[in-house]
Amino acid sequence: MDIRAEEISRIIRSQIEGFDAQVDVAEVGTVISVGDGIARAYGLEKAMAGELLEFSGKGDSVMGLAFNLEEDNVGIIILGSSNSIKEGDTVKRTGKIMSVPVGPQFVGRVVNALGMPIDGKGPIAAAAFNPIERIAPGIVDRKSVHEPMQTGLKSIDSLIPVGRGQRELIIGDRQTGKTAVAVDTIINQRETGVICIYVAIGQKASTVAQVVKTLEANDAMKHTIIVSATASDPAPMLFLAPMTGAALGEYFMHHGKDGQPASKDNAGGHVLCVYDDLSKQAAAYREISLLVRRPPGREAYPGDVFYLHSRLLERACKLSDERGAGSLTALPVIETQAGDVSAYIPTNVISITDGQIFLESDLFNAGVRPAVNVGISVSRVGGSAQIKAMKSVAGTIKLDLAQYRELAAFAQFGSDLDKATQAQLNRGARLVEILKQGQYQPMPVEKQVVSIWAATNGYVDDVPVAKVRAFESEMIAYLDVNAPELLRGIKESKTLSDDAKAQLKTQVAAFKESFVASLSAPAGA
Ligand SMILES: Nc1ncnc2c1ncn2[C@@H]1O[C@H](COP(=O)(O)OP(=O)(O)OP(=O)(O)O)[C@@H](O)[C@H]1O
Ligand SMILES: [Mg+2]
Repeated sequence: MDIRAEEISRIIRSQIEGFDAQVDVAEVGTVISVGDGIARAYGLEKAMAGELLEFSGKGDSVMGLAFNLEEDNVGIIILGSSNSIKEGDTVKRTGKIMSVPVGPQFVGRVVNALGMPIDGKGPIAAAAFNPIERIAPGIVDRKSVHEPMQTGLKSIDSLIPVGRGQRELIIGDRQTGKTAVAVDTIINQRETGVICIYVAIGQKASTVAQVVKTLEANDAMKHTIIVSATASDPAPMLFLAPMTGAALGEYFMHHGKDGQPASKDNAGGHVLCVYDDLSKQAAAYREISLLVRRPPGREAYPGDVFYLHSRLLERACKLSDERGAGSLTALPVIETQAGDVSAYIPTNVISITDGQIFLESDLFNAGVRPAVNVGISVSRVGGSAQIKAMKSVAGTIKLDLAQYRELAAFAQFGSDLDKATQAQLNRGARLVEILKQGQYQPMPVEKQVVSIWAATNGYVDDVPVAKVRAFESEMIAYLDVNAPELLRGIKESKTLSDDAKAQLKTQVAAFKESFVASLSAPAGA
């Protein structure tokens, strides 16, 4: 057989041309420095922002998150212990954007910021992995907020109503009952089928344990997931925890009860996410950003801390019917210093959310609990998140309270007051009493409506202020026994019909007679 030289060279040439080396140096890098939970690696040219990277040091492999992509190196947040990582170690790309396990099995569990169980109840079977960052649903995929997300707190449900899919900020100084509002709201979802996710960021482990215990005691853990990154966890965990919470919530919003993707015929779930609190996430983000040498801005926070929070909170939404009409409601919490809402992070989050619930130390110490300042708290969704019955009684109380606040300021001077002014002051003082509520006692909406109706219609005007709360609770107990169908009617029809009002009038008048009689009766009689 004769082999021609040019043929051989042609084959060799084509083989050389077709030779495609699979060795890609950009997939593996080398650690050039490590410290403070941050590593820098050289040679990861193709790494994506937010990509999961794997360190291959001694012992267990440690994961990292590509955080800063620079011209000749990558700044990596180390997720775990950095003790085993040293200079010269290799770092591998995984090609995956960081994701966390999600699914229905997570309900009732306590997990860390990476979605790993930390309650000692064994592993959790994941239904899927969701990326921690996800582009929020667009305008077409959304619907306006129109269903109530009852908190069970009279002062909030009547005056600052929250709707499913809304973002409502809870803001206040330390120890003003911020967590209490969130926990009461979670407890109030017992019968609603709403899945609650409580993300604890930078709190003491004992405080988180207390929340878990409270929820268990109130039969509320069975619809709740706790994501915990405590004060002793490294800053990256505090930074990631809210996003992990949102990723867990999105699973339920986008899936029906059967675990299939939500659609027109398969309704998506309703989710409530509490981020307690975002000030600590911002501080953790500042810490990491300064360590990777991003330039500090106002209050030394990096310039994109606003973007961090807006990305997170935009993920709360009410989906359109085509997408299954699920919802994710966000209740972010922000802690202020000495009531200063004009600091950087508070103003940012105020401007991102659809309203805010202001809690004040002065009110809290004066015994007004929940310490909501109803004058400056707002909900931009407003009445569309209330049932008709509540809307009809809430209008009056809003006006009465506003007048009361105005007059109370003048009345301090102790000048003689005319009768009408005196009456308004009396009414206001009693309305403030009616809005007070103990912890872990969320109230069903029909009972809230009845309480507020009685107060705004003058039934408590002649009850001593100190007795108003007793009057209210006894009245509710009386109606529970004597007119349960009336309460049920309000609950089911969601309205306060003229007929119901007439019935209420006779029932409340009858109750009042016995209450007044018991007041004037001598003690022990
Ligand atoms: N409605 C209420 N009635 C009575 N006590 C309450 C009420 N709400 C909260 N408290 C009490 O006030 C204290 C502070 O409440 P909470 O822990 O919710 O405040 P916080 O603002 O979350 O505090 P921190 O800044 O420490 O996170 C707790 O001891 C709680 O039991
Ligand atoms: Mg708290």
